[in-house]
Amino acid sequence: MSKKLKTIAPAMLTLEDKTYSLPVFEGAENEKAIDISCLRNKTGYITLDDGYGNTGSCESAITYIDGENGILRYRGYPIEELAEQSRFVEVAYLLLYGNLPNHEQLENFSKGLNESSIIHEDMHHFFNGFPRGSHPMGILATMIASLSTFYPVPDIMDPVSEMQIVTNLVSQVRTIAAFSYKKSIGEPLVYPSIKYKYVANFLYMMFSSPVKDYQLDEDIVKAIDMLLILHADHEQNCSTSSVRMAGSSLANIYAVISAGIAALWGQRHGGANQEVIKMLQQIHAEGGDGGEFINQAKDKSSTKRLMGFGHRVYKNYDPRATVLKKYCDIILNKPGFNDPLFDIAKRLEEVALSDDYFISRKLYPNVDFYSGLILRAAGIPTNMFTVLFAIGRMPGWLSHWREMIHSDQITIHRPRQIYVGEPLRHYQPIEMRD
Ligand code: ACO
Repeated sequence: MSKKLKTIAPAMLTLEDKTYSLPVFEGAENEKAIDISCLRNKTGYITLDDGYGNTGSCESAITYIDGENGILRYRGYPIEELAEQSRFVEVAYLLLYGNLPNHEQLENFSKGLNESSIIHEDMHHFFNGFPRGSHPMGILATMIASLSTFYPVPDIMDPVSEMQIVTNLVSQVRTIAAFSYKKSIGEPLVYPSIKYKYVANFLYMMFSSPVKDYQLDEDIVKAIDMLLILHADHEQNCSTSSVRMAGSSLANIYAVISAGIAALWGQRHGGANQEVIKMLQQIHAEGGDGGEFINQAKDKSSTKRLMGFGHRVYKNYDPRATVLKKYCDIILNKPGFNDPLFDIAKRLEEVALSDDYFISRKLYPNVDFYSGLILRAAGIPTNMFTVLFAIGRMPGWLSHWREMIHSDQITIHRPRQIYVGEPLRHYQPIEMRD
């Protein structure tokens, strides 16, 4: 355990006729943890925690969440302040390097991002190999892993090459995302431009073409920037834990990030933003008030869930959803941006939050409930929503990877299990099996 943890009174564990003392530590925000790292050696027992809801897998100084009180902070800064006052590139720097950058640091980082934004020309052919209609998350995971072959990681990583890799990934994920969209609609790839900043450059690559200039709307640029900030980190979530898990074997960083993208794709994680829009569209098409959908989500014999509701950590309103709802109000009230799905979403939220099923289980809107509406307003197609999440989450994944590889010791992640299969049995030749 690091020196940053405060030691407090130990926990006493009684098993059979023996009592064991287990160290207890306290973190920076008084959250307490029983250290069980010696449990199996001392007692022969392991802990069982399906889904890891009670397991701290590491110490981390990046993000703090208090799910009961709806608090989220990056490196100590409240998410609301960052969403309102900062920019995504600045927040990426903060997450990666621990402090907000000064002028020079920000300028160098931004310059690095711009200079790393093109991908190797030979990679362009890969986009032709994917069938039309391929999910962009599949393309993204593949292309990110294949960066490892074009931008080899040195055997011994010095700070300069590490910074270059990190910069490549934060920048190139946006280029790959835009290219995969262009391919899917059969338009030529648009190279990034030195003229634009991070988000504007992404929108330019997505929506301009040799025969059509894209008119940047500053409100949309700000809204997408804010959305990326809100998605930039969320401590040990499923995809970040996948990054730490894969990274703990000291695998290639591009492959490690690809593992994070794969985990993010699932509809119980980053894929939920896409499912929310499908749900709102279905309710809109059926013309009801969403009550039928809510009944199905409550029905235990159905696999349906109210998408964009509930969270493993937040047992209160997700603070990111609050910010997003506010931005929906701004963007969707602009002339020409009205979206009937926003009214359905607000009504659905109202109904769910007065329903005992959702109240008793502390199920509130999460980040995905309103994010899709902003993405729709920006013209981002639904199948690209999770890709936008991945662009936002990239600095978070990389910060956790950096924190892990720079820690005093890197332990390969290897949970145990309780075996419930067949007891010992012996092989029989096939003729004897009928
Ligand atoms: N709709 C209906 N019921 C729900 C929902 C929901 N959205 N979420 C949870 N529940 C119910 C469960 O059925 C369960 O009920 P029970 O106690 O009667 O069995 C109870 O609430 C607890 O649910 P769990 O699945 O145990 O909660 P968990 O913390 O494991 O899951 C999760 C969290 C996966 C996010 C869940 O709430 C969910 O599936 N939500 C919908 C998908 C979604 O929006 N995902 C995005 C999450 S945010 C993110 O990843 C960026």
